Amino acid sequence: MSLAISHSVTYDVDRVRRDFPILQRSVRGRQLVYLDNAATTQKPQQVIDRLTRYYREENSNVHRGVHYLSEVATAAYEGARTTIQRFLNAKSEKEIVFTRGTTEGINLVAQSWGRKNLRGGDEVLITAIEHHSNIVPWQLLCAEKGATLRVAPVNDAGEVIVEEFAKLLTDRTKIAAFGHASNALGTINPVRQMTELAHAAGAIVVIDGAQGVPHLPIDVQEIGCDFYTFSGHKVYGPTGIGALYGREALLDAMPPWMGGGDMILSVSFEKTTYNALPYKFEAGTPNIADAIGLATALDYIGSLGLEKIAAHEHDLLLYATERLQEIKGLRIIGTSRQKASVISFTLETVHPHDIGTILDQEGIAIRTGHHCAQPLMMRFNVPATGRASFGLYNTRAEADALVEGLKKVLEVFG
Ligand code: ALA
Repeated sequence: MSLAISHSVTYDVDRVRRDFPILQRSVRGRQLVYLDNAATTQKPQQVIDRLTRYYREENSNVHRGVHYLSEVATAAYEGARTTIQRFLNAKSEKEIVFTRGTTEGINLVAQSWGRKNLRGGDEVLITAIEHHSNIVPWQLLCAEKGATLRVAPVNDAGEVIVEEFAKLLTDRTKIAAFGHASNALGTINPVRQMTELAHAAGAIVVIDGAQGVPHLPIDVQEIGCDFYTFSGHKVYGPTGIGALYGREALLDAMPPWMGGGDMILSVSFEKTTYNALPYKFEAGTPNIADAIGLATALDYIGSLGLEKIAAHEHDLLLYATERLQEIKGLRIIGTSRQKASVISFTLETVHPHDIGTILDQEGIAIRTGHHCAQPLMMRFNVPATGRASFGLYNTRAEADALVEGLKKVLEVFG
């Protein structure tokens, strides 16, 4: 495996780390080594400061007041929408709906587009590496509509078998929904190719971008998808905020999902008319501060350079993968050729929860369990895995710490 990546001249990880106060702390008497970025990422001072400034100086409700603070808050909130529109290269701000996160984005599409357009006998196609949040909303929809959920298989490397995916697309397929990158294995899907195949069959395409946005530059027009959704907290922004991109023509024709304030133009007991896009899908007072914080996070990673971040993470992936070969009995689950910086593994003799607990004593945070992807665990015949997921502030020294920690695990259980 080649480790010849010379990005370090232009990517100063030590400087980047200084932006993240939490990385300076110790846990259990050890320097924190945070390798659970696929679960959630840490926040830079820039995001923390922006949230504080909002609450200290700008807090007000949006779209409602004629007073100064309401205008300031509205400008910041709508400015955040523009930041996201540019980040995803959507055509218009009307195509960006703020949500609580990826899960809500998928549920919105299922409950609005899906309930309106699905009929008995129709099919929804997903893949075998989906997160539960890209399985269960479709199961709920299919159960209600008498539709069928189909699942495209993966090979032993954890890659979607595109030929099988193509075979499962028929004129019954109304929705194809798949992740950009797998949270459990790191597999990066060929989303553009899969989108073209699905469109050729007449299906709409929904992409779960929760693990795409943190690791890859995204261009929804280039991908050609109909919907793309992601979470702020996985991309160095706040929890409880995310966004759904949807093609304007589709969003326009969809009924609202939730009713309430802000999504209306007029209400009478006889008839309510709905607000224009994207407000039709933003009922109630939105999560104003965190939307602004999310935009700050996207500006932050943009300032570091998305390509540079991707190269840095790829270097860590290759380096850690190679070093992990030193661990006797370690099996990496997910060896896709295109892979984000996520390494799932098992140890022959040790349960993943015990691995996680011993590493925790060393100050090393990884996730252990089924990673909200139980069908995938069954596919690989494991109850759970350990998962180290690397972010833009991780270092080779932290990959070394993981390897040394695993050697300790073997000493205890070996
Ligand atoms: N979906 C998150 C993870 O992969 C929570 O850990």
